Amino acid sequence: MEQSCKAFKVGSCEGEKVVDGETMPLVLHPAEANKNDLETLLLTLKNNKEWFEQMIIKNSAVLLRGFDVNSAEGFNEIVETCGWENIRYVGPAPRTQIYKRVWTANEGPLSEFIYYHHEMVLFKDHPLKVILYCEIPPPEGGETPFVPSFKVTEKMLKEYPEWVQIMEEKGLKYTFTARSTQNDTSSMRGRGWEDAFGTSDPIEAEKRANALGMDMEWQPDGGVKTILGPRNLTKVFEGRKGRRMWFNTIVGMHGKELSSATLVDGTEIPEHVVKRCGEIIEEESIQFKWQKGDVLFLDNLALLHGRRPSLPPRKVLVATCK
Ligand SMILES: [Fe+2]
Repeated sequence: MEQSCKAFKVGSCEGEKVVDGETMPLVLHPAEANKNDLETLLLTLKNNKEWFEQMIIKNSAVLLRGFDVNSAEGFNEIVETCGWENIRYVGPAPRTQIYKRVWTANEGPLSEFIYYHHEMVLFKDHPLKVILYCEIPPPEGGETPFVPSFKVTEKMLKEYPEWVQIMEEKGLKYTFTARSTQNDTSSMRGRGWEDAFGTSDPIEAEKRANALGMDMEWQPDGGVKTILGPRNLTKVFEGRKGRRMWFNTIVGMHGKELSSATLVDGTEIPEHVVKRCGEIIEEESIQFKWQKGDVLFLDNLALLHGRRPSLPPRKVLVATCK
């Protein structure tokens, strides 16, 4: 696949890495410095739609930089022009709709590290693309690190072949306990099950959870434990070079106050395996400094992503697509 396209100028950014011969992220600038207006960008995307999508799959991450994207409305037009269908977000992140397909990425406290994940990894349908737009770049921290998922599988296979095999064969089980909004005084995440399932009726909430493939166990304090499983450890997706993606969230959920990740029969995954896996994810991570107007396209089937703690202000908006 031709890396260059005369409609864009290929650039580079600090922090990029070459993974298996592909630069991540692929940085695309305006073809001519004085043609950085939104209209030209939209036209260029429209005329090179197929090529652009192939670049996202090939390089896993594409960063549009140097274009005059200065509002959620402008970002929404970019998303619409790409033409991929919207997928509704389901998950623990507190989000607010800003404009049409554009939402806040996560309103959890900026001091919190949002741990690496494939978006909606535990559900049947996951977005194929996660698109992020930087309206206000953070003064310090606040990067959106991402990780080529197959690299994690490769290293884990090398270091813990038996455990990879056991987890793959048996499957994984996750639990997550959501408090009731009525009892939740914490500022962390701040979402009770009422918000997560969009209803304060427990019967309706349970119906919605079941539809998403979760079981529920109600707690004496009004909270609920959601149980998901069996789930795969890795997945291979069409068109991704047969790469085995680390399509799970064991490091993020294992042994936490409100969550767990075990084998499907409840057997614990050894602490040192999970810890080393966390180190591998960090070793393989790629990050750059956000600049105002950046638009980042992530192949959600190929990359884990997260958010580093940030000093305020920081405003990064998101759209998720099928
Ligand atoms: Fe995310």
